[in-house]
Amino acid sequence: MNSPQRPLTLETSWESLRRTIDSNPVDNGSIDFERPMEVRPRQIENHHSLDERSLNDIISSGLSSPRPPRQLETVKSSECLEALLSPSIRSSAGTPREYHAFEPHPMIADAWETLRKSMVFFRSKPVGTIAALDPTEDSLNYNQVFVRDFVPSALAFLMNGEPEIVKNFLLKTLRLQSIEKRIDCFTLGEGVMPASFKVLHDPARKTDTMIADFGESAIGRVAPVDSGFWWIILLRAYTKSTGDHSLADMPDCQRGMRLILTLCLADGFDTFPTLLCADGCCMVDRRMGIYGYPIEIQSLFLMALRSAKSLIKAEGEGKEFLERIDKRLHALSFHMREYFWLDHQQLNNIYRFKTEEYSHTAVNKFNVIPDSIPDWIFDFLPLKGGFFIGNVSPARMDFRWFAIGNFMAILASLATSEQAAAIMDLLEARWPELVGDMPLKVSYPAMEGHEWRVVTGCDPKNTRWSYHNAGSWPVILWMLTAACIKTGRPQIARRAIEQVETRLAKDGWPEYYDGKLGRYVGKQARKFQTWSIAGYLVAKMMLEDPSHLGMIGLEEDKKMKPSLTRSASWTA
Ligand code: GLC
Repeated sequence: MNSPQRPLTLETSWESLRRTIDSNPVDNGSIDFERPMEVRPRQIENHHSLDERSLNDIISSGLSSPRPPRQLETVKSSECLEALLSPSIRSSAGTPREYHAFEPHPMIADAWETLRKSMVFFRSKPVGTIAALDPTEDSLNYNQVFVRDFVPSALAFLMNGEPEIVKNFLLKTLRLQSIEKRIDCFTLGEGVMPASFKVLHDPARKTDTMIADFGESAIGRVAPVDSGFWWIILLRAYTKSTGDHSLADMPDCQRGMRLILTLCLADGFDTFPTLLCADGCCMVDRRMGIYGYPIEIQSLFLMALRSAKSLIKAEGEGKEFLERIDKRLHALSFHMREYFWLDHQQLNNIYRFKTEEYSHTAVNKFNVIPDSIPDWIFDFLPLKGGFFIGNVSPARMDFRWFAIGNFMAILASLATSEQAAAIMDLLEARWPELVGDMPLKVSYPAMEGHEWRVVTGCDPKNTRWSYHNAGSWPVILWMLTAACIKTGRPQIARRAIEQVETRLAKDGWPEYYDGKLGRYVGKQARKFQTWSIAGYLVAKMMLEDPSHLGMIGLEEDKKMKPSLTRSASWTA
């Protein structure tokens, strides 16, 4: 049970409130991540956020337009979390909790309207949202429902108290999972979830048909490793937000989770607990040199394992799965925290690595040759700050920054609280590079010249500072915001949201921006890209009500604390 709310006093000035927000990390324990949340449908007119008004404005203008009490039951009354809540709550000491309604940002209504237009129906039921509604461009496959793209839409609907579309999506994709998947003469693993699906309406026969793509039509023919993980993560978000366990408890859902996990927990030739992947198997879905052990997949893998742990029933086959999950979680979190983590100290260690070390006592376990460290990283890495690098495999460390992998690492508590804080320090220290004018860079830095030719295969879409090659993707705003709330730094999210609000709607909600600072609408970017729209809405709603974080954030698992040291890991 949560502790009762601390009495509110009028002494709290906006300045002191801001200081509290800025200086106090949220105690991760202060949000009850495991309790179902209560979300009620909201009226668009009531949307507001922390950063749009000062406390004085709110006090002086009175509390004339009451708003229904916010659901605070999921939030404990820790000093700093309270400070994250709307200043209007803090200012109304001794009065019932009331809200002062004021004009929401005009983008919000526009965003909801466009999001609703992107909804896809199957036999009259909403089952997802299409990737983009751009009337000026050839749709290619942007008229499909992508699993990863639907996640921010789903979160927006859940936060707005509209879970039906999410439930339908989860059930329909589960049906698609059970289809036999063939590429030429080869059959894919049973558990693979589609990258996307399309609904075909036949008005003459009055029938709807669903066609899924498991990678067999995608550019490069790569199966999406992330889809199954997002599916499990979304099932947990749905369960958490609605309190409805009956969906996850269904034998079909339990089986669906087991099938996804069977693909990743199978014994094989691996010497690492990380997941070996082909290039282009996730959000970066074409050749970009992320083959091997890309950070995005490792973070999503860990998040999916932890989510499944809370959903799989400890009976029958489930029991054995839970044991395998526990073992893998332990090994995976140790490996990631040890070998993927880079800060000034660690870079210095790698710089001084000895090579050709043989036997179990090797410090440079993957035989990384210090000469392979790129020059840019020495200037880029500040003394305070760190991040999980893009990839680690034998004699290969990809030092690039990947935003999704790092933010998901924070949300999954793959990052320790010190590491999470260091990632945020880095973001602040390298704002122009990582956030730029239009948030946020999917990766950093760009590949150019010979390296670009060799690594991307001369991909004209992934030229330097464009698309997946260090382009800026507004969708990542929701992950940044969630990570900011989790680490107690909402001011960072606020700053990024303000930047987004200067242009995103005016530019027609593009898919991505180009340039070192992300100043130009992307060369081939779609307009009215659904996840750019939904990402903005989720960011705004989370900032307004930080308790939404419980849907997508996981508390630190004390059992995952690394108990081993680098050199001792073999014997232990
Ligand atoms: C692009 C993105 C991919 C996304 C798809 C649909 O291919 O790289 O991540 O799912 O567009 O928006």
